[in-house]
Amino acid sequence: MPFYLTKKLPPYIFAAIYHLKQEAVARGLEIIDFGMGNPDSAPPQHVMDRLAELVRDPKLFGYSVTGGIDILKKSLCDYYQRRFGVELDYKSESLVTIGAKEGIASLATAISDDKNYICIPSPSYPIHSFGFVIAKTNLHHIEAIAASDFLAQFKKHVESTSHKPQAVIVSYPCNPTTEIVGLDFYEELVAFCRKHQIYIISDIAYAELYFDEKDKPHSILEVKGAKDIAIEFSSISKSYSMAGCRVGFACGNKDLVGALYKIKSYLNYGSFNPLQMVAAEALTAKSDEYLQNLRQLYKSRGKFLVDIFARELGWSIEKPKASMFIWTALPKKFSHLSSFDFCKKMILTCGVAMSPGSSFGKSGEGFVRLSLIRSEEEVRQAVAKMKPLFL
Ligand SMILES: Cc1ncc(COP(=O)(O)O)c(C=O)c1O
Repeated sequence: MPFYLTKKLPPYIFAAIYHLKQEAVARGLEIIDFGMGNPDSAPPQHVMDRLAELVRDPKLFGYSVTGGIDILKKSLCDYYQRRFGVELDYKSESLVTIGAKEGIASLATAISDDKNYICIPSPSYPIHSFGFVIAKTNLHHIEAIAASDFLAQFKKHVESTSHKPQAVIVSYPCNPTTEIVGLDFYEELVAFCRKHQIYIISDIAYAELYFDEKDKPHSILEVKGAKDIAIEFSSISKSYSMAGCRVGFACGNKDLVGALYKIKSYLNYGSFNPLQMVAAEALTAKSDEYLQNLRQLYKSRGKFLVDIFARELGWSIEKPKASMFIWTALPKKFSHLSSFDFCKKMILTCGVAMSPGSSFGKSGEGFVRLSLIRSEEEVRQAVAKMKPLFL
């Protein structure tokens, strides 16, 4: 392709996997897909009922406002107050985005220039890097799986250079590694970044998917002074199984929120009004029952998958503490393969789709990610299909 950006961007991983799946189907295989983190649960019933009512109102079909409707921004701020004890001014410190992914990409466009650079964890959710590649700024990857290694390496990098990064990205619970961090991680990061005047971009898309109270994720904005330098993205996609609705959020530092608002006012309007309205209802639900059930579902799926893989395939995997993923090294028998070639083999010979670790960054090589979006029966079928290759 003759275009600068399309040449620079590798094929989007899920597009590459999609083509492999098509090839497998053409070979007569049925696919069991653990690839994309696309929730399979129904959203809360009250949300679907209300949406069915709202879509009958023709007045709601016009353009929505840039940065989101007030009722949703207020619901987000109430959620932050309730869940994290964080006070936010809904007018200047919160925004609605067209999903966290759009928000992060738009922020990258808003703040980037060719003189600055951003520190990005590797492995990480692809838009953390590619949002900034698309915005044509420079990246410095911190290659680390463990959060403590990431922090140590990031600090070492900053202390060893006079050219400080403009911003650093953090995202816990982590997609793909499922790593979690405590408040002490954020306290250390905020203190360090305040000292060196580095912005922090936090993404907590999986904040509600944790499996034990002691592992309950924090917001970076809980740290005193974080608002001076941090913006945080969150989403209803995973917490309420509403990924197709395209509603996410940004909140925190006024300058960053303001920059994001400005660029978005050029680029887009808000998501369909009824979707924003029901997102507000999801966030303000009186009971925590939906989230509790969802956590239980992902926790039990994780345990089931880890147990059956160990028993039937001899593939030993650590149970995740949060998120909707399993992250694991390739099984020993296939450790000579690249993670992409392993996934290709599994799709084309067994019809089982997973995501190669390398698609999340260089340090993801040698790993694979499975989404916990399949029933126990489907996991059993996948194991039966893969077993002959593991013997
Ligand atoms: C870390 C992370 N952030 C953001 C997103 C996307 O969120 P949204 O659907 O709100 O764009 C994902 C989706 O997989 C993710 O893993």
